[in-house]
Amino acid sequence: MVKKLLVAAAFCSALPVMAADPDNGQELFHEVELERVIRGVEYTDANCYTCHEASYFKRQDRAATTWPKLKAWIEGCNTNLDVGWFPDEAEDVAAYMNREFYKFPVAE
Ligand code: HEC
Repeated sequence: MVKKLLVAAAFCSALPVMAADPDNGQELFHEVELERVIRGVEYTDANCYTCHEASYFKRQDRAATTWPKLKAWIEGCNTNLDVGWFPDEAEDVAAYMNREFYKFPVAE
């Protein structure tokens, strides 16, 4: 039994680390439906675009200036708004937003 587990552990650790999946991130980004009051309006289906136009993510003076900062900002909105993305999901969203808007080089 222990031996089997060790073999399984060795096998798993040999697998390559999965890269973030921007297509999954795209789905997650567009599926967000938040119940909350934003600027005095009660929403049952608020999403990222309720606060941010797409152009906001493409403007010159963006707060996110690198790939790690982009991930941190997304994690910030994820947490503050109780979106409920797991860390790997937030990273998929980051990969999508990077592909779509930010175009940062992604260090391995
Ligand atoms: C209730 C409003 C609100 C919603 C909804 C919201 N955000 Fe934000 N977001 C903010 C605020 C406030 C900031 C801080 C920057 C600012 O004030 O411009 C921010 C900043 C960001 C930034 C950094 C922008 C930059 O300048 O580079 C990213 C990326 C971001 N949000 C992603 C998201 C994502 C993804 C979602 C959807 C899950 C989301 N946000 C939903 C309020 C919101």
